Amino acid sequence: MRIILDTDPGVDDALAIMYLAAQEDAEIVAVGSVHGNVSAPLAARNALRVMELCGLTAPVAVGAARPLAQPLQTAEFVHGVDGLGGHAGPEPSGTVVSESAAEQLVRLARAHPGELTLLALGPLTNIALAVLLEPDLPKLLRSVVVMGGAVTVPGNITPYADANFFHDPEAADLVLGAGFPDMTLVGLDATEQARAGGEWLTAVGALDSPRAVFANRLLDHYAGFYSQMFGTHTCTLHDPLAAALLLEPKLATYREMPLAIELSGTHTRGQVVSDQRLIASDAYIATTAGAGRVPVKVAETVDVPRFLEHMFEALKAH
Ligand code: RIB
Ligand code: CA
Repeated sequence: MRIILDTDPGVDDALAIMYLAAQEDAEIVAVGSVHGNVSAPLAARNALRVMELCGLTAPVAVGAARPLAQPLQTAEFVHGVDGLGGHAGPEPSGTVVSESAAEQLVRLARAHPGELTLLALGPLTNIALAVLLEPDLPKLLRSVVVMGGAVTVPGNITPYADANFFHDPEAADLVLGAGFPDMTLVGLDATEQARAGGEWLTAVGALDSPRAVFANRLLDHYAGFYSQMFGTHTCTLHDPLAAALLLEPKLATYREMPLAIELSGTHTRGQVVSDQRLIASDAYIATTAGAGRVPVKVAETVDVPRFLEHMFEALKAH
């Protein structure tokens, strides 16, 4: 599978890159950074750092510096000032390319129609810009997997929204409504099941490859954050699960539904809205949320033991 990765490393983004690097059937063709966990330029340097550790050489383009319609907000309180839990280390030896992430995405989609899969692990600003640059993007990409949102569960950064969609609600709504024929949403409904706990973290801690040692430092920081916030030394592998479902969709079940994003809610901006009613009739008030949109496959139940097993094997790879 040939993948364009759009990402805001970010601890769990870094772990997702490490997962992909260990998959023989996955090729990261190009990477775009985006604001979110940290600034877009730092996200790009972090992507280069992790890719160099894993021996990957795909081009990295810096993406959108801020959301479409709100000021920049970042999440160093989760991922650390350097975005990698304080373990970013020296500057990467590689440099970013001159084109922007959105331009890179459009150029590659046009050059390889129907061949490339997009994995979006951060706010969707670059994807939205790419759709505005190339309205046929939904026809040019093979498929899209997005980590973001919360359909039937609470959010994380707010009670109603996950960080990726809260950091750019307009972009998320534009992308969910752009008409991608094969889009999968891996939201908190699925990722909150993908909790890495004590035994798994201890097993990773016992691995000694350079990749595993770095992953263990990331996981230790991430679980430390969860310990402070929730009192448990665990962490949620949001982006690695999205990467795993991209390559192994059978690790989860899905429900198809059209989706939209709340843009004007005083409390709920960034929330995923969909019509969850099982029986709609004329007596009920129809909703315009997502009306007429192409349905999205929403990941629901995850085979967590198998996912964690595959993630462990990926980190064990030398
Ligand atoms: O809500 C979780 C998502 O927001 C993950 O992609 C994490 O890296 C942050 O970007
Ligand atoms: Ca991310």
